[in-house]
Amino acid sequence: MNENVTVFSHPLIKHKISQLRDETCKTKEFRALVEEISMLMGYEVLRDLEMEEIEIKTPMETTTAPIIKGKKLALVPILRAGLGMTGGILSLVPSAKVGHVGMYRDEETLEPKEYYCKLPEGIDQRMILIVDPMLATGGSADAAVQFVKKKGGKQIKFVSIIAAPEGVKRLSEAHPDIQIYCGEIDRGLNENGYILPGLGDAGDRIFGTK
Ligand code: PRP
Ligand code: URA
Repeated sequence: MNENVTVFSHPLIKHKISQLRDETCKTKEFRALVEEISMLMGYEVLRDLEMEEIEIKTPMETTTAPIIKGKKLALVPILRAGLGMTGGILSLVPSAKVGHVGMYRDEETLEPKEYYCKLPEGIDQRMILIVDPMLATGGSADAAVQFVKKKGGKQIKFVSIIAAPEGVKRLSEAHPDIQIYCGEIDRGLNENGYILPGLGDAGDRIFGTK
């Protein structure tokens, strides 16, 4: 495995992903699980957030103590399914700025079509978390990372809940400079580009469409 790829091993993450996979898991529970998993993954992904020392007066004395350096994070969900992951991560870092990249897969070619992109100011100065629950062929992720880079993004992490080996390979080869995080790496893709065993269509299951 490429050293830029991290697969989570925490039992809580594994357990909740297994619950997500279950076809009987309904929209409300599915959405809540995606949020919880994203929060747990975010805790680890944000381990290297930059810190600074500030002076604080405790009831006992004045001291210096570490806090997270402000205004340095951008969360970028890939629309639409990535939106399901934003709440969980924002619960950890409520003041993070949020950008959006609109991307959907052409069902015939499996290639991504971009329809929207709006990123926070000063993107070149920020740690950027691009989030999407599914990394399948890697086309959408590759295009989103290219997009963010074109706008000046440098310190990029891509966070997915379930990935296929094909997607991890494509993304890590196209962008060896980014960190990739996956809850699980599954067996592979079917002929329609769906992850096996996977969880089906993440966007439809989060939003209750179809
Ligand atoms: C899904 C998923 C990813 C993409 C992954 O989105 O959320 O964005 O497919 O597939 P890839 O790795 O082969 O590109 P989809 O296109 O279904 O759009 P949606 O989020 O609007 O449902
Ligand atoms: N997008 C999804 O939502 N699920 C897959 O299995 C592949 C792409």
